[in-house]
Amino acid sequence: MSTFWHWYITIITIGTIAVTVWFLIWSSRIKVDAAQEDDGSETTGHVWDGDLKELNNPLPRWWMGLFWITIVFSVVYLILYPGLGRFQGVLGWSQESQYEQEMEVARASFEQRYAALGALELEQLASNPEAVEIGRNLYAHNCSTCHGSDARGAVGYPNLTDDHWIWGDQPQQVLTSIVNGRQAAMPGWGAVLGDEGVLETAIFVQQLAGESVDPAMAAAGEEHYNQVCLACHGPQGKGNPILGAPNLTSGVYTYGGDLDTLQYTIRNGRAGVMPAQLDLIGETRSRLVTAYILSLHDE
Ligand code: HEC
Ligand code: HEC
Repeated sequence: MSTFWHWYITIITIGTIAVTVWFLIWSSRIKVDAAQEDDGSETTGHVWDGDLKELNNPLPRWWMGLFWITIVFSVVYLILYPGLGRFQGVLGWSQESQYEQEMEVARASFEQRYAALGALELEQLASNPEAVEIGRNLYAHNCSTCHGSDARGAVGYPNLTDDHWIWGDQPQQVLTSIVNGRQAAMPGWGAVLGDEGVLETAIFVQQLAGESVDPAMAAAGEEHYNQVCLACHGPQGKGNPILGAPNLTSGVYTYGGDLDTLQYTIRNGRAGVMPAQLDLIGETRSRLVTAYILSLHDE
């Protein structure tokens, strides 16, 4: 908040309270030359339109008392809590700190409740119905936007229910994918291969996946493959889980296996990001959601 707005708010707030106090004191002190009427009521002596008289009825004491209470309340409040521009209040309270505290309590109580489950091996967890049930809920809240409510993925987001793992199929590798996230980096080869080279390589990739393609084109593509793709996708195209380079022989694609999509991938590259979950849901929850994913593979 700029200095200007700090003082703007502070002066208006304090000024309003001060004026109210002054007004209360002033109005309780003024003496009215009250005139006694015939029926016993007092009037201020003001008369309009011939016979319209202003009665002199002071506010009841309890009513005045309420005014004073609200003023005392507002002063105490403004001392304790933020309200005067940049002044933070002597309690140091803030929305963020209250939120953080409540989240911390919730986190701690979750960790405590599920510490026993979290300590189990992933394989045991995956066949523990309670763990899988909690994991299913965690999945719905934290993962389904990208991987789909049934975990079957979408274009750009891998299917987590099939046996085609990009980053490794061991429970510990799946957990690592979730806890630390993954950053794939497939460079684009359009400039190196040219349009014809990209097309030939795409056709060779289709051949790797078992499709019947033009053999001459595929043979030309294989040469490109051996020069630039083999380093990551391996001599037989089986991929490399350490780099997150997918197996190109399985026919299962994150982005798509039609000729247009393959050419796009090869020309421009891809950089899929799986966001790290550790800071978002913590260690225990990550293990439980991993158990849920693994349980989808038990059938
Ligand atoms: C530096 C390592 C590297 C090289 C070299 C490389 N790739 Fe990749 N490739 C990757 C990675 C990593 C991914 C996963 C990208 C992602 O998930 O966003 C990938 C993804 C792909 C995909 C997408 C598969 C899918 O599931 O949709 C295809 C197709 C592909 N690469 C083919 C090739 C071809 C053909 C070449 C050679 C022209 C090549 N790659 C060179 C690392 C590499
Ligand atoms: C913002 C979207 C997004 C969210 C949210 C997300 N993921 Fe992912 N996830 C991805 C992408 C993209 C990849 C693939 C990265 C790559 O290109 O290799 C991935 C990869 C993975 C992998 C590795 C798959 C393999 O074949 O090796 C696992 C496991 C996974 N996610 C599980 C989860 C779980 C569990 C959650 C929830 C806690 C989650 N993801 C939340 C986008 C997301």
